[in-house]
Formats: sequence, C-alpha cells, structure tokens
Amino acid sequence: MDISLSSAVRYAVQDNVAVIKLDNPPVNGLGDTVRAGVYAGVEKALNDAGIQAIVLIGEGKAFCGGADIRQFNTPAALAQPMLKDVIAYMENSAKPIVAAIHGFALGGGLELALGCHYRVAQKGALLGLPEVNLGLIPGGGGTQRLPRLVGAAKALAMIQGGKPVSADEALQIGLVDAVVEAPLLDGAVAFAQARISQAEHPVIGRRKASAEGVDFKAARSGIRPKARNALAQGVAIDCVEAATRLPFAEGLVEERRRFDELVAGDISKSLRHLFFAEKEAPRMIGASRSKAGSESTIKRVGILGAGTMGGGIAMACANAGFPVVLCEREQAALDRGLALIRKNYEITAAKGKLSAADIEQRLALISPSLDTKDFADVDLVIEAVFEDMAVKQEVFRMLDATCKAGAILATNTSRLNIDEIAAITKRPESVIGLHFFSPANVMKLLEVVRGDKTAPEVISVCMDFAQRIGKIPVLVGVCEGFVGNRMLTGYWREAGFLLEEGASPQQIDSALTRFGMAMGPLAMADLAGMDINWATRKRLAPTRPAHLRYSKVADRICERGRFGQKTGAGYYRYEAGSRVPLPDPVVDEIILECAREAGIERREISDEEIVERCMLALVNEGAQIIDEGIVQRASDIDVVYVNGYGFPATRGGPMFYAQTLGLANVLEKIRALQARHDDHWKPAALLERLVAEGAEKF
Ligand code: NAI
Repeated sequence: MDISLSSAVRYAVQDNVAVIKLDNPPVNGLGDTVRAGVYAGVEKALNDAGIQAIVLIGEGKAFCGGADIRQFNTPAALAQPMLKDVIAYMENSAKPIVAAIHGFALGGGLELALGCHYRVAQKGALLGLPEVNLGLIPGGGGTQRLPRLVGAAKALAMIQGGKPVSADEALQIGLVDAVVEAPLLDGAVAFAQARISQAEHPVIGRRKASAEGVDFKAARSGIRPKARNALAQGVAIDCVEAATRLPFAEGLVEERRRFDELVAGDISKSLRHLFFAEKEAPRMIGASRSKAGSESTIKRVGILGAGTMGGGIAMACANAGFPVVLCEREQAALDRGLALIRKNYEITAAKGKLSAADIEQRLALISPSLDTKDFADVDLVIEAVFEDMAVKQEVFRMLDATCKAGAILATNTSRLNIDEIAAITKRPESVIGLHFFSPANVMKLLEVVRGDKTAPEVISVCMDFAQRIGKIPVLVGVCEGFVGNRMLTGYWREAGFLLEEGASPQQIDSALTRFGMAMGPLAMADLAGMDINWATRKRLAPTRPAHLRYSKVADRICERGRFGQKTGAGYYRYEAGSRVPLPDPVVDEIILECAREAGIERREISDEEIVERCMLALVNEGAQIIDEGIVQRASDIDVVYVNGYGFPATRGGPMFYAQTLGLANVLEKIRALQARHDDHWKPAALLERLVAEGAEKF
C-alpha cells in the first residue's frame, strides 16, 4: 500500500525495496513538496531495517522534467531542502538507490538521477540537461557530475548543446547502467536487489572527470556569437572545464556561483519570459479549446494564389502532412508557383535536411488546380491573392458560393479589414485572418486575426491547426496592420525622422543590429518591398493628421521606382543577384533634400538616440495595442516581435524590454520626446495608468 510522504511523493514497499514515487503532474517538476517528499522517503527507508535498497520512480508520463516552472520566482522555489541537499543525502546512503527513468529525465530531473547510485532507463526514455536553451546552466550539480560519469567530451555535448540523448545512447556512454523493458518498476527493483550485497555503491562525486578529447578553447571559439544562448554556452564550457580541474566540492560551488549570475541576468530572464510567453500565446482566454481540436475539423486545405505567400503556406501544410489544393488563375502562374516550391524543397534537401523521397511525398500532397470548384470539399481555404479589397471581396464571394457549409474561409491579408471581407459572405462567423510571415514555410509566427463575427470555435480550430503546422499562433484583433505591422509604422516613422535629422541609413541599421535586431529597419524595408507601405501611406493619406510631422523620404525613394531588393534599389542599392545593401549617394541626396524642405537643421545623431527612439516607438504603440484589447496579453506582442520581426530573444521582446528599462523610466523618456518632437509621442494611456499605479509590468 502506498503512503503519502507529501502531497507530491508516495512511498511503497516491494519485498525488501522501498519505492519512492514522484507524483506531481504534469511532469513531476521538482517543487518544494517533491524535494521534501523524496528526502522523507530516503529517511524512512534508511530507518527501516527491513529495507535494503531504494528505487526512485516517476508517476505519469515521465521520471521528472526538472524544476517546477510554476514555482519560479516564488518562495517555494527556495524552500528547504534544496535539490543539492536531497542529492547529498542520497549520496551518503549506505543502501543503494536506483533512479528508474521512463519518458524523460531533464534538467533537475537528470541531476536528481545523477545523485542516485545507479540509473536504469526504459527504452525510449530521453535524458538531457537543456538549461542552455533558457540561458542557464544546470545548477544542481549537473555540470560537475555528468563529466565525471561520461567524460568531459560527452558531457560538454549534452550541456552546451542542450539536446537530450536516448536511453540507448545513455547506456552506450555510461549515463545509465541498464536499459530495461517495461514494466520498469520490476526491472528497477530486480536491479536494486542485485546490488544489495555490494560493500559500496558508486558516488559520482568521488570520481575524476577525464578531459580526454576536449579542446575547451576550440569549443569556446565555436560558439556562434549571435546565438541567443551564447552566454550560457560559454558558462557551460567553463563549468565542464572546472569539473576536470577542481575538486568536486569546489566545482559545485563554482557551478552555483555561475548559475546564480545567469539566473539574475537579463538574458536568461528574457529567454525564460519568452519560453512562457510562447507556451501561453496559443491559449484562448475565457474559451475552452474545442475538445476535438482541429483534428476532426481540418483534413484538407485549399490555398488560393500560388505566389510568394501561397506557395510557402502550401509547403507549411504539406510539411505537416495535409493534402492541399493549390489554385491559381492561369497555368503560367501555377507553373511558376509549383516550380518555386520544388526549388525550395531542393534547397532544403541540398542541406541534407530532406531526402528525395521526402520531396516527392510532400509535392504529391499538393494538387495544383485552375478551377476553384476543387475547393468544394476542403475544410479550410487560405486566400493569398493580391492585397486589394475589391479583389479580396470578389474572391470571398466566390469562396462563399463554392465551399461546403462549415468550411473555414481565411485570408492572409497583412493589412486589410477582415470584417469588410467577412461582410461580403453569408458566413462571417467562418471568416478569419491567418496572417503568415514570409517565407511562410519557415517563419514560426502566425497572427490569427479574429473578426467581429468570427465564431470562437473557428478561432479555436485555427489556433490548433496553426500548431499542427508548426506555427506559434498569436490571436489578434482587427486594426490597421494588426499587431506586428501596426507597430512597424512608428518604428519606421522614427527611422525616417532620424534620417532627416542627420543619421545615414547605414548608421540607423547598424545601431539597431548592434542592439540585436536581426536586420535594421531600412534594410528590412528593402527586403519586404517599399511599394507595399507606399500604397498603404497613400491609402491613409486623407486621414493623416495635418499638424503632425511627416517624412517624405520613403515616398521620394518610391517615386523613383526604387522599391527595395526586388528593383535592385531602395534605401540602399544592390548589385545584380546580391542581397548585400550598399550605400547609395542618390538616397543621401534625397534625405538632404527632404530635410531642407522641412527646414530641419541636420546634427550629429548618436546610436543611443537611434535605438531609444525606434524602440520606444514600438513600446508606446504596443502599450496602446494592449489597451485596445487587440492582443490577449502583453507577452503576445513579444512573441510576435521575436518570431516575426527579428527582435532579439535575449531582450525578451519589446514589452519585456520596456519592463527591464522600468516603466516609469520609459514613460519619462516618452514624455521628453513628446516635448521635443510632437504628439506622435503622446504616451499610451495604459502606460500612464500603470506608472501612476506603481506597476512594474504590463
Ligand atoms: P504575390 O503577388 O506573390 O502572389 C499573389 C498570387 O495570387 C499571384 O500568383 C496571382 O496570380 C494570384 N492571384 C491573384 N488573383 C487571383 C485569383 N482571383 N485567383 C487565383 N489566384 C489569384 O503576392 P504575395 O506576396 O504572395 O501576397 C499575397 C497576400 O499575402 C497578400 O494579401 C499580401 O498582403 C499577403 N502577405 C504578403 C506577405 C509578403 O511578405 N509578401 C506577408 C504576409 C501577407
């Protein structure tokens, strides 16, 4: 019979073996009750003369997924005993302790297992120390024990790389002592019983770590400086090296010191924030997910338009195994689209990521068509035709007439009003925006745009579908540019103003890439195509407040037929076949001319000013978006910017970044900009309210 040792750990006896069961769903995270329960279980077993060995095993789907993330930043995370105390207690046990691992043992979960005398794993289990992915290193002895058990080379691969190994690999490298078939518990108990007669049981900390085959210097110089976890990787290398040099106890102290530094630093805080933000983003507040998800609802997808986006979306669907009907107006466009899809697959194959058979299998899922009647039996249509309201409405009238009842009609529009598109149909509840990002087969972000009348069930099915095709869906409301593109307006506005005030395109872009952006705003405009924004500006010109400053630089560049990379020139010029932006005196001339006309006296601009104005423009608009209820939560904006706009993950996204600057500080800077410039800088009401309340978070 099981005895409860704490709310999350149970104890049972099988013959002469004590079985300590972690029972803290969903992944047996090492919360305070688990740590206390394991400690109590070992104590109970040691005090019972009838017990000769101990097995530690997890209930549910896994042994242990590591720290209990729900307790992060709460007092429970620091409650005694800490993991290191539990491990020290186990290591001192004269009775053998065996970790019985199924599912996975990750992070603190593997460290707990490393604190046992023996480890056995069920076939299929995964063992790893993935902390670097959150900008951390293992902090419970993992960097000191793993090298002592499997050698520094293999330990480094696991700790710096953050990738888990399978049970079979674990056996091969000596991380586990045996791989057992199910039932795991019986195998582990038998394994433990066979060790009872041994005079001593192995304690990893007493071994020496071999540095054989490791070039720590080369490992350090191999880190990609732009990797989001570059800092943590470096620390991981330092700690593994320390394991080969320092006595065990000193190594543990060193590991803890480095861990504490990382935990307190902005980079890991940002990465952890994003980890939660990305988990949270697909959840719909206040609506329970459709039980069936999209599995029963979406089996076949129709895509209209085989251009840049339609082709990429078709690939994303086919990659996830969905049959797709890809429809175009004319044969030539269809052929072009299909040829591009094949070429893209071949590029992936050339990198060794896809086999020839994979390509054929995926292409076979894409049925080309010139007749929209082929959409009659699809469950979801995604339209990716030209960005023009009249064209979109005509298409939706046709889709409404063609598609079966219950089919979801989605538009990939990047700016048009979904409600106006929905209104043209007799089923506005089935109309939704699915805003993919280019290249759609690569980019993770998907803005799911709910219209006024979109049914919650339709939203829920689309959020689920998005995840099935490997995207991170963020639910957004209808507004000009939705979330990501709407925020770019102010970001580009400041870049344009800074050009007139004295900065060069190169200075603006390099200041922002040094900040961490994957690309500067002007190089990005050239990549995206400047004509699209030009058209939007012309469309919005009649409603533009006349008293606010307006930079004509972008318009003047477009007037010369320079739309960016696709025309070989935009803010920069491009040599044929090259994507490298080169400075262009023509643009410098346009900038000077615009500044002159606007009566602006050019001055020296600092990189700090560039970063501050471009970032605060994002933050202020983001705050407004939150206030309008366009997003479900502030962190959704961070997910959008990191996954769709090249914002540095190490800064957590624009809203998290604002929090690290301090909201009061941000408001003060925005007010100063408003005083110096104009009402473009009117602080978002939400920001003012939060600061007045003394809040530190959005
Ligand atoms: P594109 O010009 O590359 O492709 C549009 C395709 O639609 C063309 O192949 C055209 O022949 C076809 N088409 C036009 N009318 C049609 C009709 N009635 N029936 C069937 N096919 C038709 O355009 P792109 O860039 O793929 O954009 C498509 C949509 O995606 C637009 O609404 C755009 O705003 C949106 N979008 C574009 C992004 C980008 O980075 N290019 C990013 C996100 C959204």
